[in-house]
Amino acid sequence: MELEGQVAVVTGGAGGIGLAAARCLRREGASILIVDLKEAEGRAAAGELGSACAAFFRADIASAEQCESAVREAVRLFGGLDILVNNAGIQTFGGPVDTTEEVWDRTMNANLKGHWLMSRAAIPEMLRRGRGAIVNVSSVQGLASQRNVVAYSTSKHAMIGLTRTMAVDLAPQGIRVNCVCPGSVDTPMIRWIIRQDRDPDQIERTLNRMHPIGRMGRPEEIGEVIAFLAGRRASFMTGSVVAVDGGLLVPIAGSPNQ
Ligand SMILES: NC(=O)c1ccc[n+]([C@@H]2O[C@H](COP(=O)([O-])OP(=O)(O)OC[C@H]3O[C@@H](n4cnc5c(N)ncnc54)[C@H](O)[C@@H]3O)[C@@H](O)[C@H]2O)c1
Repeated sequence: MELEGQVAVVTGGAGGIGLAAARCLRREGASILIVDLKEAEGRAAAGELGSACAAFFRADIASAEQCESAVREAVRLFGGLDILVNNAGIQTFGGPVDTTEEVWDRTMNANLKGHWLMSRAAIPEMLRRGRGAIVNVSSVQGLASQRNVVAYSTSKHAMIGLTRTMAVDLAPQGIRVNCVCPGSVDTPMIRWIIRQDRDPDQIERTLNRMHPIGRMGRPEEIGEVIAFLAGRRASFMTGSVVAVDGGLLVPIAGSPNQ
């Protein structure tokens, strides 16, 4: 097992991509602290992973104090910290004029500031171990955009900036920082987005067809790449931005995706 003896904190690990990543990291031997707002789901997820090697800590990553408490809890329970998966996030909608300051701030806090705060809290513990890996979860909307997602897409572009700048700062100290950009993935978040639409069946068909592979991703297909980036098989990767998108971003503009 590649990650035996290592400790991972996974934000947003109560469900969706975060839980899938936690399962992959646990399978490779890491102990896991799930950090999330959702208490019942978070406890159930930690229970599923095994109470000796996994636990849940309720924290809002937008709070510096709660991020520091989460990292302290990982160290208290498991003796240190080697891996941070910055996955928690929220989807918001709105264009440049109708997006309110409240939506903008909430989006940036959950999707950007929280990842810097978690990283800031975690890095001193990684330095103590002399190693570390941070995996940030951005989106295809960090590499391209669409209408009506001004705050979300901006936050996801900035996540790539945060990845690159931290990678350069931390490489000399043995901490690698990488980023995954998922296409549409079948999680509670995407189900919520589908439900918002006037024609949910139609939007689901469109989401599937948009990807040259012909379907949305499964959470574990992102989790596997996160676990790979966190482990020693990715030892020469830092500052990398990896699209895991079923080919979504590949076709020349306007060409049919099939
Ligand atoms: N599902 C997709 O299609 C998709 C595509 C691209 C990128 N992503 C990104 O992947 C990540 C995970 O998405 P998902 O689809 O699994 O979403 P999800 O809604 O299923 O899970 C996100 C988790 O983050 C938690 N969370 C949100 N804000 C938080 C906060 N402030 N503090 C602590 N926890 C918080 C939620 O409680 C939730 O459990 C997100 O960053 C999302 O933007 C998702």
